[in-house]
Amino acid sequence: MSSYVTRKTPGDTAWFTRDRFGMFIHWGLYAMPARHEWIKSREMIPEAHYDVYFKYFDPDLYDARTWARQAKAAGMKYAVMTTKHHEGFCMFDSQFTDYKSTNTPAGRDLVREYVDAFRAEGLRIGFYYSLIDWHHPDFPIDMLHPRREDPDARQQSEGRDVRRYAAYMRDQVGELLTHYGKIDILWFDFSYGGRHGEGDKDWMRGKGKEDWESEQLIALARKLQPGIIIDNRTELEQDLWTPEQYQPQEWIRHAETGELVTWEACQTLSGSWGYHRDEQTWKSPEMLIRMLVNTVALGGNLLMNVGPTARGYLDSRAEAALAVYADWMKVNGRSIYNCTMAEPDLLGSLPPDARFTQSQDGKRLYLHLFAYPFAHVLLKGLAGRVDYAQFLHDASEIKFTEGAVRHFSEGAAKGDGLLVLELPPVKPPVVVPVIELFLK
Ligand code: GLC
Repeated sequence: MSSYVTRKTPGDTAWFTRDRFGMFIHWGLYAMPARHEWIKSREMIPEAHYDVYFKYFDPDLYDARTWARQAKAAGMKYAVMTTKHHEGFCMFDSQFTDYKSTNTPAGRDLVREYVDAFRAEGLRIGFYYSLIDWHHPDFPIDMLHPRREDPDARQQSEGRDVRRYAAYMRDQVGELLTHYGKIDILWFDFSYGGRHGEGDKDWMRGKGKEDWESEQLIALARKLQPGIIIDNRTELEQDLWTPEQYQPQEWIRHAETGELVTWEACQTLSGSWGYHRDEQTWKSPEMLIRMLVNTVALGGNLLMNVGPTARGYLDSRAEAALAVYADWMKVNGRSIYNCTMAEPDLLGSLPPDARFTQSQDGKRLYLHLFAYPFAHVLLKGLAGRVDYAQFLHDASEIKFTEGAVRHFSEGAAKGDGLLVLELPPVKPPVVVPVIELFLK
């Protein structure tokens, strides 16, 4: 059994740390400007213009079953979809607002279709819910708000009562956790308490747990869905630490106690969460696979994002990226699911340009070759510990010797404890080859 123990949390994370790989879906009106999901704030788009998106939002090609099949084929085991992003637009039929998908030409509860389709494919269901809301009339204007530069921003903000907004969030979270069956993850985003505006914007205040009334919000969620996994972005510690857009170098630890924690990296296929037509920084197949491996090699989960178009489908670039995962996971999923960081006494054997993962029962060690070497892999300290070795993708035997590289030349490596894998000269046709080592 894995010796790594994580800090205990209220939610049920056992399934989560087995499943390891999920799909993030950022979808909302911002898919129409197609220039990033923060566009309303970044460009300080006037309300009247943003209303145009509401007026014409018509995802006529949305078929949640297709997305669910794509996610499943990519090896993803759960999904988290934006029910409302910072723009405030609701993708579900809330009775507490008119600013919702059912009142656009879409005319449908897009969240319900997502839930039904993903559940039917056997995936677990998560909801992203934005704490920030740039539409709600009671959300005070602050330094992230699209109206921050309006000459009358202060007057506009007067009378806005964040307590009414907090009650609105509870109402909506109540709906989301009551009307859609079992929900596995609730992903709030995000807090920026303690910050304030500068100069003549000094009156602007960031927002955090007091504004959101996080205690009440979370108590409600736990009451409605015991066991649900909740992230830490309400400014109240819950189940999930969520490093975003960088690769952690170590298993994430609790800031005060130093305990290992349950963590999930969230990443994008390109440089935007929402659909971005002109953005070009799409990650290479190698990088996509490495990010997943890097994450599990440090005991974490990966939530990889897609930003569907406003017509409701995943564009060809996103499809191609998912196909990379599908091809790889189909034959290599065993090194990801139910796996975690290799035991400390094995980590010292890690060769260059490679990553280990280990099955949680401790019996199998997976060596991921980021750069394919010629023609041996030297694993120091593993002699006597491996019973059998094979490529994972085709279960073809990898021969090995112990104590020395089998070669007639002088100067070939030797050493007690050395385990030497003999590799074919040609890299097999998988983006990152994996060698499965059955431990004694
Ligand atoms: C950030 C962004 C947001 C995105 C999220 C995903 O906090 O505000 O647009 O939804 O990260 O982690």
